[in-house]
Amino acid sequence: MQRLIYTLKQDQVDLDLIMVIRTVLASCKEIAFRVGQGALGDVLGSTLDENIQGETQKKLDVIANQLIKNMLLTESNVAAIASEEEDDIVAGNANGKYIIAFDPLDGSSNIDINGQIGTIFTIFPAVEGLAQDDPRQFQQKGRNQLAAGYVLYGPSTMLMLTTGKGTRCFTLDKTHGGFLLTDEQVSVPAETQEFSINMANARFWYEPTSRYIDDLLLGETGVRKKRFNMRWNAAMVGDIHRVLSRGGIFMYPSDNRDPNKPAKLRLLYEAYPMAMLVENAGGRASNGTADILDLELETLHQRVPVIMGSSKEVEISTSYYT
Ligand code: F6P
Repeated sequence: MQRLIYTLKQDQVDLDLIMVIRTVLASCKEIAFRVGQGALGDVLGSTLDENIQGETQKKLDVIANQLIKNMLLTESNVAAIASEEEDDIVAGNANGKYIIAFDPLDGSSNIDINGQIGTIFTIFPAVEGLAQDDPRQFQQKGRNQLAAGYVLYGPSTMLMLTTGKGTRCFTLDKTHGGFLLTDEQVSVPAETQEFSINMANARFWYEPTSRYIDDLLLGETGVRKKRFNMRWNAAMVGDIHRVLSRGGIFMYPSDNRDPNKPAKLRLLYEAYPMAMLVENAGGRASNGTADILDLELETLHQRVPVIMGSSKEVEISTSYYT
């Protein structure tokens, strides 16, 4: 089976970019090891702190953030980093060509129940002429991403990666420590009978979301004339991994639960990278009215409604919002 480095070279990825991807993955291998140790490695439970989003930080959030941050900041090609766990941009090397954003540990509520969790990352070109920690560094369209991926710490540790030439899946071979290519071209079927949404929020949804989900729930007897099944992992990495593996539609729409948080997922280090992976696998990713990759980031921790997965189903779903 092909090693990651070989695949990236075959895809003619810039060698400096390969170095950065390898650095991210080196820290993910360390995180995979720590996750595997669980209670034995003292990584379960919470800290007493909150992150910028006002969420309680889990010990593993902090450990994973520190590991990725420390490794990336020693990389000469890295101009700046942004993380879910950092309030602001952190400056790296003045001559770095790339800026990297990451969610060090997605699906934190699954940590203590031995459920699926993961690291999501995205790499953009650094903007020349701006200081490394200038907020405008990350104010780019999703289409500017040079690479995007996640590492899923599940029963096996898997990497889903795109550099814009398809979405490829790798599995960590824990016997020698390398990521090996296990699916050369991930392909999301256009149609699906599986949806993924947190139904507990149903009473807070806006009308188009309620109407769409109601139609799915009617099954064979409703307008859709087919039965739909539902899955919810409470970790975007787990849900998107299922969508990339066998199709489906994943939604985290805006709702009226909290006027300060009209949507939940973060554009920069959750929606952008997942949208690039899904589109490169033949799927679609929308905020309801526009493709997520066409949006331009305004603030570092900006939130966005998300509808992504099987192309025809995303099309049907977004038609409710127009
Ligand atoms: O980052 C946020 C996140 O944990 C996602 O991974 C996941 O899809 C979602 O929140 C879960 O939300 P909820 O708590 O509503 O189930």
